[in-house]
Parts: sequence; C-alpha cells; structure tokens
Amino acid sequence: MTTTEKINFSVGDAVKEGLTQKEKSLPSWLFYDAEGDRLFQEIMNMPEYYLTNCEYDIFQKYKDEILSIISTDADGFNLIEFGAGDGLKTEILLKHFVAEKANFNYKPVDISQNVLNLLQERMQKSIPDLDIKPINKEYFSALDALNAERKNPMVVLFMGGNIGNFELPAAQSFVNHISSKLRKGDRIIMGFDMKKDPELIRNAYNDTQGITRLFNMNLLKRLNSELDANFNLEEFKHYPSYDPQTGTTKSFLISQKEQEVNLKFINTTVHFKAWELIHVEVSQKFDEDMIENIAKEAGLNVEKYFYDDKRYFADVVMRK
Ligand code: AVJ
Repeated sequence: MTTTEKINFSVGDAVKEGLTQKEKSLPSWLFYDAEGDRLFQEIMNMPEYYLTNCEYDIFQKYKDEILSIISTDADGFNLIEFGAGDGLKTEILLKHFVAEKANFNYKPVDISQNVLNLLQERMQKSIPDLDIKPINKEYFSALDALNAERKNPMVVLFMGGNIGNFELPAAQSFVNHISSKLRKGDRIIMGFDMKKDPELIRNAYNDTQGITRLFNMNLLKRLNSELDANFNLEEFKHYPSYDPQTGTTKSFLISQKEQEVNLKFINTTVHFKAWELIHVEVSQKFDEDMIENIAKEAGLNVEKYFYDDKRYFADVVMRK
C-alpha cells in the first residue's frame, strides 16, 4: 500500500475535492483497496513491469556495500523504512545485516497497523534475531518520535520507486521534509526509476494483458461501492501516457461521452464533457541531474548510485 499522501483524508473528502476541480483528478492512494492491492501484486509480476526485479537485483548484488556505507560513521544505526509493503525486498538487506552482526534496529513505519502486524510476523519468522519495532504513525511524526530518543545515526529507506508518485516539485518538498528531520551524518536510501527507452516505460504502464487497465478501472469500481456512485465502467477508458522530455508517466481515466455521474454518499453530481480526463496517477522517471538537484536543494550529498545491470533503476544513498 502506498501511503505517501493519504494522511488525514477520508475517501469521500479526497474524491469530492478531486472531482470538483476544473481539471479532475483522483489521488493514487485510492487504487489500493483489497482488490487494488491484489491487482498491484499482479502488476509487479508481469513481464513488462521491469521495476520489480531491478531493486531485488540491486539489493542482492550490493547488500554488502550498502552495509559498509551505512555503518561507517558510528557503531550502530537506526533503519527506518517508509511504506515497507510486504517487505520482500527489505528482507534481503535485513537478513544480510543480521548475518553480519551489524548493530542496528529496524523500524518500519506505516499508518496501517495491519500492514505492520503482517510484516512483523514475517520478519520474526524469517529473521529471528532481528531487532524490529514497528511505528504506527504518519511518516514525519515517526521521525520526530525517533529523534526524541535516538543517539545513533538514522537511515531512512524509501524504496520501490514510490517517490515517482510525486511530480518533481512535490518530490522535492517530500525530500526536503525528510531532510529537515535529519542530523548531520544521517542518510536516506531512495529508489528512483530512471529514464530509459520510452517504449519500455510505456509498456510497463500499458501491458498487453490489460492488468494495468483493470487496476485503473478498479478505482471507479471502488467509488461505486464505497460512495454509492454510478460510474458506468464501459463509458470510461484507461489511457496512459509517457513524455520522454519531462520523464513523466501519467494515467488517465477518460469519459468517452458527455454524462453525469452521481456519488450519493458525498452528495455530489459530477458532469463530464465528452473526452474529459480524470488524472489518476503520476510515475515520474528520473536522471542523475534531477536526483543531484533534489539532493542539493534538500541539503544532502549523493554518496552513491547503486544500479541494476541494465541501469533501469537506481537505489541512491544520500547523506546529510
Ligand atoms: C508503486 C508508484 C511505484 O508508479 O510504477 C504501477 C504504481 N501504477 N503500475 C509505479 C503503478 C501502475 C507504481 N508505484
């Protein structure tokens, strides 16, 4: 589940705000209801979705180098992870760190207690010696809470290319905000999906099996059931775009005709012109210049880029 912007916002409020603007949009965290979580798992397993294996490969290959970078400045560190999800990729790092007897504790942060319980269960089974303390808080309050008690450096993990859910200005403020909570010597390890052959990127968001289409359409299904809305799914179409100049992938749901949709639970009627868009997702792609800039603006130094063999994806270590 992606929780980056979900804080303090109910589904109804978010939908009302998004659909009553001049340019209609819905926040991408709305994708992830139970069916959305399931479809996203399917996305991660499709051949076109190259991102999944990249980060897995990076961690397999560089777990040792990653550990030596983050354990240089002190005899211990706090590893804090934003939005760990199922923890499959993090587990590679954690297993290695524990096997190497690194002095650290692992603090996954999520606003869903359920996600944290599942994660803790999984980790305790597979890595019994892991010192794990989940934090059920919003990201930035979790950093405040940790700052009040910690002595050792902090390493903030934000993987999966989730930063790409923000367009550049929002990505910048997110990193600024994390950085403002860091002390000198603390680090961020962040996963960035890199610019590459535009066709490859487009295919990752427009797969031949139509899974991404179902994932996007599920959003309207969700509004139908949770807000008692009457979206006719046949009259909307999924349309992904990639602009290689900006590196921005966008997904839209497009109304194929003029129509009105009623959302009973939020007392809202929405008018659609023919071919009017609902913008539902951004997946920003980056290059080293963009990453360098983000780091610099946030008062961080890029220490190291870890790439997969094809250089599709980078896990970047930044130090305050
Ligand atoms: C979870 C935000 C990294 O943007 O690649 C995949 C979500 N949406 N296919 C991405 C997603 C459609 C994914 N992130």
